[in-house]
Formats: sequence, C-alpha cells, structure tokens
Amino acid sequence: SKKPLWVLPRPDMRSSNDGIWVFSRYEDCVAILKQSTSISNDLNYRFKGDTIPFYMHMLNHDGKEHARLRRLVNQFFSTQYITNLETHIYNVVENHIESMIKNKDINLITDFAEKIPFDVIASILGIPLSDMPRIRKWTIAIGNGFDTFTVNEEIIQKQQQALLLLLDYLRVLIKNEEETENQTVLYSLIQAQKEGHLNNDELLGMVSFLLIAGHETTIALIGNGLWLLLSHPEQWQLLVENPGMIPQAIEEVLRFESPAQRSSFRIATKTIDINGNIVKPGEQLTVAIASANRDETIFTDPHSFDIQREVNPHIAFGIGVHSCIGQHLARVEARIAFEKIIARFPHMKLKSNIPQWRSSTFFRGLESLCVTL
Ligand code: HEM
Repeated sequence: SKKPLWVLPRPDMRSSNDGIWVFSRYEDCVAILKQSTSISNDLNYRFKGDTIPFYMHMLNHDGKEHARLRRLVNQFFSTQYITNLETHIYNVVENHIESMIKNKDINLITDFAEKIPFDVIASILGIPLSDMPRIRKWTIAIGNGFDTFTVNEEIIQKQQQALLLLLDYLRVLIKNEEETENQTVLYSLIQAQKEGHLNNDELLGMVSFLLIAGHETTIALIGNGLWLLLSHPEQWQLLVENPGMIPQAIEEVLRFESPAQRSSFRIATKTIDINGNIVKPGEQLTVAIASANRDETIFTDPHSFDIQREVNPHIAFGIGVHSCIGQHLARVEARIAFEKIIARFPHMKLKSNIPQWRSSTFFRGLESLCVTL
C-alpha cells in the first residue's frame, strides 16, 4: 500500500493533543520500567487498526504474549551461546582491524565500529553477509523514522519504503528456508511458526526488530567508547596498561553516553501516580534513560566520565521484563573490540576534538570519528 503506515502525531493518539510524559529522574524511570500492571507496551492500546508485521515483536507486547515471544529466541542471547560465539567475534574484529591498516585516513565509525555488530548479528540471525550492505540502508531509514521528535513527511516516506523492502526481503528469505542454517534465529523461528508458536507477522516482526535493535545501538556503544577514551587520554592509557579494566570502562561508557537515550513509548492503562505526577489512562509516557544515568542523587559527579567509577547501577539496557535481551552480546562485542584495538594501536590519536554526533533524539552515536593510528 502507498498509504503511510504511521505518521506522528497520529490523530488517534491522545498525545497528539496532550503531549507525551517524559520522566527523567532515575527513581521514576526505574519505577516506570518495572511497572507492568498499569503501564502497557501493547500496540493495540496505541495504534488502532493498521499495524504492520514489523511492530509484532516482543517489545510491543505485554505479559504472556511478551514472554512467549521472548522465550522463542532467549537461547540465542544466553551467556552460554555468546561464549561459544566469542571466537567468531574475535575473528570478525581482527579481520576489520587488519583491513583498516591499509587505509590512510581512518574513520573509526565506518571503518571499524559499524562493521562488527553487523557481521555478528547477521550470523546469529542467519542472514547472508553479502546482503547486509543493502539491509543497512533500510535499517538506517527505519531508525530515522523512529526519531519521534524530529520526523517529517520525507523521513516517514523513506521509513515506510525501507520497511516494505525489508519485509519483502525477509519473506523471500523465509521462503527459501533451505538456505538458512539450523543454528540460527531465523531457522528456529520458522520451525516455531510451523509448530504454531507464533504467526507469520510475528515471525517477520521478531527478525526485523532483532536485526535493527541488534546493531545500531552496539555500533553506538563501540563508537562512543572510542571517542570518550581517546578524548580522555589518561583513561585510554590506563586501559593500555590495564586491559582487565575494559569491562568496567564499558559500563561507564553505557552510563555516560547511553546509546539508547530513551525507552520505547508506553501507555498508562490505569491512573498512576509517579512521584506526584498523575498519569491518566490513555496517556503516553517514555523514560529518559540518558537523564536517569546522570541523576546526581544516584551517581557521584555524574557529568564526569570516569572508568574507575565504583557504583554504577546505570539503566542503559532498561530494567524489568523488557530489559535488553542482547545486553550480554553487546558487552562481549564491545569488550573484544576495545581489547583488540587498544592492544593493536596504543598510540592512536584523535584528528579532531569536536565530535560529530548523529542528529537523533533516540540514538546517541557518532557520525564519524577520524583518527591517526
Ligand atoms: C530492549 C538498549 C543491544 C535486542 C532494550 C531496551 C534498551 C536497550 C534500553 C529496553 C527498551 C524498553 O524497555 O523500552 C540496548 C543497548 C544496546 C542494545 C544500549 C547496545 C549497546 C541489543 C542487541 C540486541 C538487542 C545486541 C540483540 C539482537 C533487544 C530486544 C529488546 C531490547 C529484543 C526488547 C526486549 C523485550 O521486550 O523483552 N535494549 N540494546 N539489543 N533490546 Fe537492546
């Protein structure tokens, strides 16, 4: 259909008249993310009628439906599964590092950060690597359309187009099921669908959402980390001398420049009182993760980047039943990327001290990061 699938603000959204609640204090954010009886993620409350398969994934469901979908892919993100994948991740990182050496001008976002999560998620899902460049174009357009506060007609049109192309692509891939491998999310979901555990729209929604959720945020984590460390040379040096501190440094990167700046939108299903703010049924709300992660009542000296920070209960991966399924994978990818690149290029330097951030209110990630090796 040529008809736009969703345009914000939609006339059937209460928020188009009344705005959207944005909670920013740590305590309120945690309370909202943990609340599942009077706050819903279910699309049926938000979009009446014309939803498309893309939206039929776990983050847009509550309770039993959410648990059913999450359970179907849980094993692929378990500690055990990711540990078995480590050698593959090491190889991916090493290959990209080696091909980087051939270039004179290095942009760490396009030449390094972007490459890793992409290769890794393709192999977990069962999507041929050779198709990833065009998929990346679609996922960027889709991501831009979620930037709720800055979207315009053109961005929405491009998003719709990209969504349809992605869904068509996945339909063909699913049809040629024999080309997929047994140990992949795609294969496993196709089997689950045959056994009646999910419908066709949910299958498409789950694969496309994992594809998008699984790489943009991780690219941002790796890029933000390299920027923060290189712009704090004493902390970079600390990691050169103590690579064992890398996991702790990753937590600080997640806190200080949270790749997902806010949660998805939720809707109140009952009247709720959040610290004296009365949210009525039908009103929408979101959680400003980036703000919560710099709440001065929780984090000492919150606007300082400090990889030696000891108490760091950040919520960069959310919290509660919808907390990020891919958090272990993202942490492992970032750890291996930092370990390898710091060891290989300990004297790396920034070419400019002015970061170029992507224009987005959802993703916090860099457009480019130019360095000399
Ligand atoms: C959920 C952040 C990487 C898949 C979430 C949420 C956040 C988040 C904040 C909660 C959203 C909400 O409650 O509204 C991040 C960050 C990442 C990352 C910062 C990287 C640094 C990944 C990866 C995958 C993934 C690698 C896997 C392919 C998901 C899924 C959900 C989710 C499927 C929904 C879980 C559910 O509804 O039960 N992520 N994510 N994410 N993330 Fe991630």
